Amino acid sequence: MLVTRQKVLRRFWYPVLPAESLGIEPAGFTLLGTPIVLWRDESGAPAATIDRCCHRTARLSRGYCEGGRVICGYHGWEYDRTGACVRIPQQKDPARTPKFRIEAFRAAERYGYVWVALDEPMFDIPSIPEAEDPTFRRIPEFYEIWNAGALRVMENSFDNAHFTFVHRSSFGDPDPKPSEMSYTDYPWGFETHSIVHVKNPDLQKKNLGLADDMTVRDNTRTWYMPFFRKLRIRYPNGLVHVILTGATPIDDRTSQIVQFVYRNDTEADTPAASVIAFDRQVTAEDRAVLESTDADVPLDRNSGEEFHMPSDKPGLLMRRRLAELLAAAGEAEIRA
Ligand code: FES
Ligand SMILES: [Fe+2]
Repeated sequence: MLVTRQKVLRRFWYPVLPAESLGIEPAGFTLLGTPIVLWRDESGAPAATIDRCCHRTARLSRGYCEGGRVICGYHGWEYDRTGACVRIPQQKDPARTPKFRIEAFRAAERYGYVWVALDEPMFDIPSIPEAEDPTFRRIPEFYEIWNAGALRVMENSFDNAHFTFVHRSSFGDPDPKPSEMSYTDYPWGFETHSIVHVKNPDLQKKNLGLADDMTVRDNTRTWYMPFFRKLRIRYPNGLVHVILTGATPIDDRTSQIVQFVYRNDTEADTPAASVIAFDRQVTAEDRAVLESTDADVPLDRNSGEEFHMPSDKPGLLMRRRLAELLAAAGEAEIRA
């Protein structure tokens, strides 16, 4: 599936920028192959439009902001958050409102990130109860571009068979037999549950406050169609480590990885830097293998390009759900 060619994927919210990085200057981002400009309106709320001035096509993200509007750096045309061109400074009466307009998108701020939906969203931004729970703290982890397809990143997040191999240097149990997984379907995705046996290396012993060489993760993983997941890990001592990962599709082979954590301990228990250091190692291990895979994932399990084993079930369910999504939208799957 080529993500930039499937219009229905425009109907979802994607995290695109850390909220604190959107200040007084406009910022550019490419979402599903569409160049967008983001800025803050007069109320401080994020705004998003196409990153192309309708006068001579200059990128608005190279311009500047004033009074909650984005101003083109070429001849100064001004746009509001609805995409209306509200001022052309060269006009005799510059306050006279022109009729020109550029495409505007929905933008919202949630969980410390700016989210964008290019078309009418099918579902709300995922709800994360831990974000409202005062016993949890938030730790922003990674914001980086991977040369990997977004669906590959999602499938990998639910793959119980890769720990022994990809994560052999960090937490992977040497026993390659994957844990069982149970499933609950929802209109917006699915939730899975499994008990996973993991190694407990030195840094984790400190981070988790668990002295054993091996431990158990009670994993509840939630897939939010198409490219967002929640991994809620509960350790035997009651510590809960919730990892949120968005694989926001920049284009057909590149994903903006957005990862943040909620955790029910304190900075005095475990410094955020130590939490990030362990997850850094794990995430780098995933990245290395995912960047070696084909970005274009076939949704048809019988395409003959890939063969499967029982533990591939969550990924195959994602492919089936996405195939159903395309079919319901009247779209054929487009491949490279
Ligand atoms: S190109 Fe934007 S104002 Fe001329
Ligand atoms: Fe992994």
